[in-house]
Amino acid sequence: MKIAIMASGNGSNAQAIIDRIKAGKLDASIEIIVSNRADAFVLTRAQKAGIKSACIERKDYPSRREYDIALAEKLTASGCELVVLAGYMLLLGHEFLDVFPDRIVNIHPALLPSFPGTGGIGSALAYGVKISGPSVHFVEEKVDSGPLIIQAALPVRFDDTLESLRTRIHSFEHRIYPQALQWLAEGRISREGRMVRVAPGSRKTIKPDGDWFVWPPLEEGF
Ligand code: GRF
Repeated sequence: MKIAIMASGNGSNAQAIIDRIKAGKLDASIEIIVSNRADAFVLTRAQKAGIKSACIERKDYPSRREYDIALAEKLTASGCELVVLAGYMLLLGHEFLDVFPDRIVNIHPALLPSFPGTGGIGSALAYGVKISGPSVHFVEEKVDSGPLIIQAALPVRFDDTLESLRTRIHSFEHRIYPQALQWLAEGRISREGRMVRVAPGSRKTIKPDGDWFVWPPLEEGF
C-alpha cells in the first residue's frame, strides 16, 4: 500500500510507521512525507530515512482553498493510495478531502468522540477521566469526527501528569496506528456508514495485560 504522511511536528508516529515498515511488519511504502512547517522534526526524520519530503506552507498561498488544492496535487503526484495524518495541525477543506474519499486516516490522542481538537490529553486529564487513550479514524470534514477504526483504553493513574499520560498514550499510538494501516494494506477493513469492521486474519492477537485494552485487538507484530 502506497501511503503519504502529513505531519506538523515531532513525527514520532511517522517514525513508528517507518520503523514497522523497515521491520517488515507493515506492508506499505511511504511515497512522501509532507509538512506545513519548515522546522518540523518530521522532515529530519524523513531525510534520515531516505524518504522524499516536502514542506508546503500555508503562508505561500493566498487562500486556504488554493493551499488545499496545492496539497492535493502534491499528494496525487506522489501516487499515494492512502493519506496518513500524523499530527497534522491544519484543518483540511473539501478541496483536499474530496480528492481522497475514504482514503484519509488520522490519529487523535483521546477516546473519541470525547475531547476532540487540540489539547485532547490535557482536557481529558483536567476533566478527571479514569480511562483515556488514542483513537484512529477515517477523516471527514468535521474535526476528529470520522468513523473509528481502532482505540486503546488506558487507565489514568492518580499521579499522572500531562507528561506521563502523554508518554503512555503515545506509546500506544505507535502500536495502533501501524496496526490500522496493516489492516488497510491487507484489505481487511470495510465500512458501512459509521461502522468499521476488521475481517479476521491469520495472525494471533495480543492479550491485554490489565493495564491496557485495545479494540479490535492488536495482532502479533504490533
Ligand atoms: C499525536 O498525539 C497525535 O495523536 C496527534 O498529534 C500528535 C502527533 O505526535 N494527532 P507526533 O508528532 O507523531 O509525535
